Amino acid sequence: MTHAGRAGVHHPQRARRRRRQPVGDLLCVRRRRPPFEETAYLLLYGDLPKRDQLKTFTAAIKAAQKLPKAVQRIIKEAPRTAPPMDVLRTAVSAAVFVDPDRGDDSPAAESRKAIRLIAQFPTLVAAFHRLRSGQKPLAPRRGLNLAANLLYMISGTLPDPEAAKAVDVALILHADHELNASTFAARVIAATLADMHGAVTGAIAALAGPLHGGANTEVMKMLLEIGTPDRTEAWVRAALAQKKKIMGFGHRVYRTADPRAAHLRRMSEELGRKAGQPQWHAMQQIIEDVVRREKGLYCNVDFYSASMYYVLGIPLDLYTPIFAISRMSGWCAHVLEQHADNRLIRPRADYIGPMNRTWVPTGRRA
Ligand SMILES: CC(C)(COP(=O)(O)OP(=O)(O)OC[C@H]1O[C@@H](n2cnc3c(N)ncnc32)[C@H](O)[C@@H]1OP(=O)(O)O)[C@@H](O)C(=O)NCCC(=O)NCCS
Repeated sequence: MTHAGRAGVHHPQRARRRRRQPVGDLLCVRRRRPPFEETAYLLLYGDLPKRDQLKTFTAAIKAAQKLPKAVQRIIKEAPRTAPPMDVLRTAVSAAVFVDPDRGDDSPAAESRKAIRLIAQFPTLVAAFHRLRSGQKPLAPRRGLNLAANLLYMISGTLPDPEAAKAVDVALILHADHELNASTFAARVIAATLADMHGAVTGAIAALAGPLHGGANTEVMKMLLEIGTPDRTEAWVRAALAQKKKIMGFGHRVYRTADPRAAHLRRMSEELGRKAGQPQWHAMQQIIEDVVRREKGLYCNVDFYSASMYYVLGIPLDLYTPIFAISRMSGWCAHVLEQHADNRLIRPRADYIGPMNRTWVPTGRRA
């Protein structure tokens, strides 16, 4: 899964335990494509599950979906206007108080913690959303996979299968991505031998920023601000002329197309058309053309997921929490991997400030 040998963070041989799996394989258009749960299993255990393994894992996820009372109380007491990512970070941090495996960092205990975190996070996102909207949180429904349950627990109605499939695919696409900022944060924390809840709490904080997972919400805000396709090109050109960053473009690692964006582009177009809102995708294509021509930049995973979630009726500030629902599987897998063969991560920094400064009494400082 991971290889950051160049940065001295992680030795290559330590990463070989997990098999790489082309994301296209996980999304294969077989009639009964296994859901996101299969990808979560792959990340945690290093191999695709056999049928009975997937069944057991899925059952464990389902059994762990309900929120502990202590966590329910935290989200009930959170201000309704609080950004969901802040509430989620706080709730996940507090979940450790009541975790049955608290204090046990053995691989078996950490695997159980990972299952609980992956299972409870969607329930948490939906419960906070319903509470802030003055509605009663819903218990997860039997017979639905994690993606469909998320949509059900947010809206209170059984999701359209196509919508559930689109969210499921989005979850697969966002699950893990090497040492992105939030995963790196999780690994730095885990490498001090801090526990899994601490590591993923830090990761949630890192993901919330608009240069990372927060970009998807910013993309949709931009599209709403522009408003119509005919205003789009002029808006983007003006923004670039003012040296503004166009959200959903650029990547620290990819200097070419982000392969995840192709899947999301297709789903955003199809779902937008079906929802009678083709304008968002049309605007995005104009933005993509202009930014490509003017800056040589490609769109990233956050660009088309934004319009896809919008036409599915998902509130803007839940886009990043959905990213976190998916990435929780990657974070937990990285924590397991780090703890299995640990070394403290401690980069160096060169001091470049003034040298040879002397201490001056406070009253005589300039
Ligand atoms: C992702 C990101 C932080 C990567 O940053 P980076 O690799 O450090 O890129 P740099 O900041 O070095 O940018 C290189 C150049 O491209 C420009 N650039 C990078 N991303 C840009 C964007 N989204 N819109 C406009 N210009 C952008 C920079 O301004 C810089 O231009 P300059 O050389 O004229 O100063 C950056 O592309 C970004 O802020 N994107 C928008 C937020 C986003 O979508 N985040 C999700 C990432 S998956």
